[in-house]
Amino acid sequence: MKKVRTIQTIIILILLSAVLAGFGPARITYPETESLEVIALDWRQDLRTLRLNFPLDPLLADGLKVYFLVERKYLAAIGESGYSYTIETSRFIQTGEKNLRPKADGAGGLNGAYHSYRELVSELKSLAAAYPGLARLFIPGKSLENRNIYALKISDNPGLSENEPGIAFLGGHHAREWISVEVPLLIGRYLLENYNRDARVRELVNSAEIWIVPLVNPDGLEYSILNYRLWRKNRRLNQDGSYGVDLNRNYSYQWGYDDIGSSPEPFSAVFRGTGPFSEPETEAIRNLFQSHRISAAISYHSFSQLILYPWGYFDQPSEDELLFQSLAADMAGLIAQVNGRVYQTGRAAASLYLTNGDFADWAFGFYRIPAFTIELPPVDLLQGGFLNSESDIEPIFLENLPAALYLIERAVASYAGTGTRLGPLLRKELEKNRKSMIKDRPGAAFMGKESR
Ligand code: ARG
Ligand code: ZN
Repeated sequence: MKKVRTIQTIIILILLSAVLAGFGPARITYPETESLEVIALDWRQDLRTLRLNFPLDPLLADGLKVYFLVERKYLAAIGESGYSYTIETSRFIQTGEKNLRPKADGAGGLNGAYHSYRELVSELKSLAAAYPGLARLFIPGKSLENRNIYALKISDNPGLSENEPGIAFLGGHHAREWISVEVPLLIGRYLLENYNRDARVRELVNSAEIWIVPLVNPDGLEYSILNYRLWRKNRRLNQDGSYGVDLNRNYSYQWGYDDIGSSPEPFSAVFRGTGPFSEPETEAIRNLFQSHRISAAISYHSFSQLILYPWGYFDQPSEDELLFQSLAADMAGLIAQVNGRVYQTGRAAASLYLTNGDFADWAFGFYRIPAFTIELPPVDLLQGGFLNSESDIEPIFLENLPAALYLIERAVASYAGTGTRLGPLLRKELEKNRKSMIKDRPGAAFMGKESR
């Protein structure tokens, strides 16, 4: 009897969870219970197989040893796969606490206060678990090395797809631009933590669906943390033996329009890939946009302090140039009020350099929604370039918050007026009108400039 009842309960639970799960991309609702250890391995061996097969959080490289945080459940399998390690947990972690946290001396490890992939995953899971009525974690796709690409949806009734505008905040297209991961993540956390105490936040969250995708390029980020800080692209092994596709040249709109805004050469820092959406990471973003109504977007990068809008692929105004100009100017005004920092605004192609196949051109070109690239501080290489300090995180987030809230507000207002997206609706994709290739002019496009 008891057995029958158990089986009945299990069936009901399965049915219930299938209903709750709804359709669309896979979703995680529970943070995994963590029991962490720190292991040390010899740094001189090839760690690639290890890193591809186990979720390790790089903590520290010290002498001949490299230290990782790892869940205890993987230890046996790591040993069986031929890697020998020592357990060094007591050096790093306060014992006797429920939530194991690195001790102050090893806090954050190699990436300091910036999030590694592993740390980001736990943060996103705990946010989703702490605010089940406001947040839900989606996985619109996976990276080449099989890491999840997460999208945290923030809205009232996050399990339903409501008739509300979606606003997407993306970060981490480029591995070395660590600050671009923190800003969208902190925006998401702010919305959740202030829902109950701030009427404006509550209003925005109730009337919009906000998508936080802080890390489009998890493989690249991990590589930047452990192997080469200034890595930019994803970790695709290319035909010529070089690594990486520039994910922000891999979107389909005017993909490969010329060889200045992207490169056909695999070893180039701005290699566009073998075809539009050849990379699973950009495909994940396409999935997200295909399965949810997104009405406005900001893609964060660093560095330069700029608010950029389409077009990036050629230096001509789009038919929404005036709308873009005014939104960008309003956002820059809001940003400047916080810490006094000035973000210049302008058409992407004219303000920084030409790009083709970038996210903003695609989001605008294909979906006709306002899509911005915000290049976060600092202004230039002399002030640190990609290497922001830990103390930059808070002020850069704080100055970007009002602009983000403002864009949500504008999307909500416009949506309420028209019931459609901000700006004209979907238009036919123009990508087939690819212009004939312009011969590569080595150096000309990026003279004296590092792609950012
Ligand atoms: N800095 C980013 C990149 O190089 C975004 C550029 C935005 N578009 C542009 N044409 N500047 O991918
Ligand atoms: Zn970038």
